[in-house]
Amino acid sequence: MSGILTVVDAHKRFGGIHAVRGVSLALNSGELLGLFGPNGAGKTTLFNMIAGLYPPTSGRIELASRDVTREPAFRRARAGIGRTFQVCRPFRGLTVAENVLAAIPPGSGVGDDRARAREILDAVGLLPKAEDAAGSLTLGMLKRLEVARALALEPKLLLLDEPLAGLTASETSDLLGFIQGLKARASIILVDHNVRQSLGVCDRAIVMDAGAVIASGSPDTIRRDPGVRRAYLGESAA
Ligand SMILES: Nc1ncnc2c1ncn2[C@@H]1O[C@H](COP(=O)(O)OP(=O)(O)O)[C@@H](O)[C@H]1O
Ligand SMILES: [Mg+2]
Repeated sequence: MSGILTVVDAHKRFGGIHAVRGVSLALNSGELLGLFGPNGAGKTTLFNMIAGLYPPTSGRIELASRDVTREPAFRRARAGIGRTFQVCRPFRGLTVAENVLAAIPPGSGVGDDRARAREILDAVGLLPKAEDAAGSLTLGMLKRLEVARALALEPKLLLLDEPLAGLTASETSDLLGFIQGLKARASIILVDHNVRQSLGVCDRAIVMDAGAVIASGSPDTIRRDPGVRRAYLGESAA
């Protein structure tokens, strides 16, 4: 397996807040890594450092063995980092297809881009909605549209920030199955605040609390971890 992403001892401080405290991780191609932790744990800040929105206070970020720590977000996006945001922000007045078209980098010609948009919409199951206004989609469909827009960049690495938040139980299991299928296209880091909900589709996982990693490993390792069991799996302290 080859390494897609390596984060080495990343820290982020915002003034007096030490939001990320020495996080290291490595992601191989085709892997789906779960990133769990309560609100304020530092998950989004870690994503922002990986995607290049915030420079780390210290530490190193490598994409496919290339040090991108000092590279701006647009260059990392071109190098293959795609992401979704915690809050969906499609162009609500545009159609679903137009939203995906707008996310495709300028390329080989209008005809090709339209075919490519339809191929992506097919992959996320939104082709029947291609000509509908994005504003008319359900939340579950909007989340898929966000993923479609991220896929338009043909990312090697896809960062999904709480894509399950606000979904019904059936939308959640639907989207989790879909995310698992995306592994054929990209390596994925999936952020959720609910370990129980998404651990089942992950190859490995990391649990953060107050900026630091408190557990990492296979789904079984995470399930057996005493700290994780106390904090997230509903077991009282012994
Ligand atoms: N741009 C920012 N400026 C100041 N503090 C921030 C900023 N972004 C995040 N934080 C703080 O960093 C900590 C981690 O936040 P965040 O990464 O959003 O956590 P999570 O995504 O796990 O809920 C929180 O205390 C948050 O208030
Ligand atoms: Mg967050």
